[in-house]
Amino acid sequence: MARIKTGIFGLDQLIEGGVRDNTAIVIVGSSGTGKTTFAMQFLMHGIENGEQGLYVTMEESPEQLMKEAEMLGWDMKKHFEKSLFFIHLKGKNFKKMIDEQIPQLVKARSDYDIKTRVVIDPMTPVIWATEDKLQQREMIGKLFYTLKELGVVMATVEEHSRPGEIIGEDVLLPVYLADGAINLEYYPIGGAFNRTLKIIKMRGTHHGEGVYPYIFARGAGAIIRTSPAEAIKAEDGQDFKNVFDEAIKTAEFIKAPESVISKLKYMKDTWTYNYSPEEVLQVMFDSYGLK
Ligand SMILES: Nc1ncnc2c1ncn2[C@@H]1O[C@H](COP(=O)(O)OP(=O)(O)OP(=O)(O)O)[C@@H](O)[C@H]1O
Ligand SMILES: [Mg+2]
Repeated sequence: MARIKTGIFGLDQLIEGGVRDNTAIVIVGSSGTGKTTFAMQFLMHGIENGEQGLYVTMEESPEQLMKEAEMLGWDMKKHFEKSLFFIHLKGKNFKKMIDEQIPQLVKARSDYDIKTRVVIDPMTPVIWATEDKLQQREMIGKLFYTLKELGVVMATVEEHSRPGEIIGEDVLLPVYLADGAINLEYYPIGGAFNRTLKIIKMRGTHHGEGVYPYIFARGAGAIIRTSPAEAIKAEDGQDFKNVFDEAIKTAEFIKAPESVISKLKYMKDTWTYNYSPEEVLQVMFDSYGLK
């Protein structure tokens, strides 16, 4: 079965090459773990490859989000209302929007034969809109069901789990109703790999079962480490321009797409970690199928 690459570096390698079409994946994590970064990276990967993107937002306006994206190194403005569209769900009447507005929108697009990636970031307000579990289940289920018609849906859910809980109570429903669920964790203790990812489930997929560290790199997004190797520590004052130059030269030599090369150049200029980018570059090359 054809797999759709998420564009999140390293993740596709852990899930048999990507996600299945017309499925809903939830990204679960507490505040600041990187849910929005994952969602944007997924959306931009599609857009950069000729697909369209639909960003369903509740709290932040499209302008705010595009500004955030810019700080992460993604030029969303360039695609705004050409291949990137926003729905800003305001107020509390989600039920009406989920029952009427969104189905209308999906129907209106059904004539287009163009793949659309959908992001719902964050989906938490829909869950909090009612205390009634049955109604929550109905709304989340319908939202997924309707939007999956367009393509892959990635929804983010805030998690507030108590110590000892595997996943918090407030995320059980979305995790249960989604086809796949990924848990992000962040231990604010400094150090190189203090962010980790776990795959809670991925229907119909043999997925990695480990705890995988990931980092953020401006211009690229999240890069997940798929091997157990230790990060290489930098000598004092060492910079890694040469490592990037090597990678850029290699990419040019093997005729990698321009978008890949410009990502590498961007990373070269903004890499601030004190460890070598070799490993993340390897994950990126693997993700693009470059040898
Ligand atoms: N290139 C980078 N280098 C270092 N840190 C980064 C980089 N990009 C993002 N971050 C950090 O990662 C964190 C994750 O941001 P993001 O907005 O994706 O998280 P989130 O899970 O969506 O949070 P929230 O629940 O508040 O919406 C931010 O605090 C940001 O400072
Ligand atoms: Mg966010």
